[in-house]
Amino acid sequence: MKTSRRIFIAGTASVVTSALALPISTLPAQKKTAPKKAAKEEPEEVSTNEDLMREHGVLNRVLLIYDEAIRRIQGNEKFDPAVIIKSAGLIKSFIEDYHEKLEEDHIFPRFEQSGKLVELTVNLRAQHAMGRRVTERIAATAKSGDMQTLNSSLAAFNRMYRPHEAREDTVLFPALHSLVSKHEYDAMGEEFERIERKTFGGDGFDMAVDQVTELEKQFGIYDIAQFTPAK
Ligand SMILES: [Fe+2]
Ligand SMILES: [Fe+2]
Repeated sequence: MKTSRRIFIAGTASVVTSALALPISTLPAQKKTAPKKAAKEEPEEVSTNEDLMREHGVLNRVLLIYDEAIRRIQGNEKFDPAVIIKSAGLIKSFIEDYHEKLEEDHIFPRFEQSGKLVELTVNLRAQHAMGRRVTERIAATAKSGDMQTLNSSLAAFNRMYRPHEAREDTVLFPALHSLVSKHEYDAMGEEFERIERKTFGGDGFDMAVDQVTELEKQFGIYDIAQFTPAK
């Protein structure tokens, strides 16, 4: 598992822009309580929508890191910009180059070809394209120290992605069941698993969760109890 994790991390660095390619490889792997099954031998059975929606969970956790960075910029609090640069790198490698590519290649075309929710997919595609531009700007400004542009870029990213993923989760993905047979739906899930293993050399989701967990710890927002109101 450790080897495959390193392969994923190295792959992450190679696909990101130089601004994003910081030493994410220094992140220690999260300790597991029980050893995971080797993905190659016994792939987890994850349905198409579960797969996409739990990837949104990783995206959401990065949005929380971005929220906290916005709060610190606005409160004139210091923070390590490397966490934001690494977060942008994870968005690029796991969300933009993988999750959104799955949507663009396998989900949106089924709606476009059947003439259903076409206007929604046009907007979702446009948001993917804009998201990539904003991610580059986030990484570049975190690196250069232009805190004002970083602040507005992080805010723009979060403002767009919350409705984006919520619409996919509640409208687009549920509607997939009306477009494809049970057999095709199951086959899509298996195909997604194959693509995931090929892209990341193992369970890309587990690796992404480990990375975002480590980034939350570095940023001091991992302890979930801190989000519970005192009364
Ligand atoms: Fe999307
Ligand atoms: Fe998505």
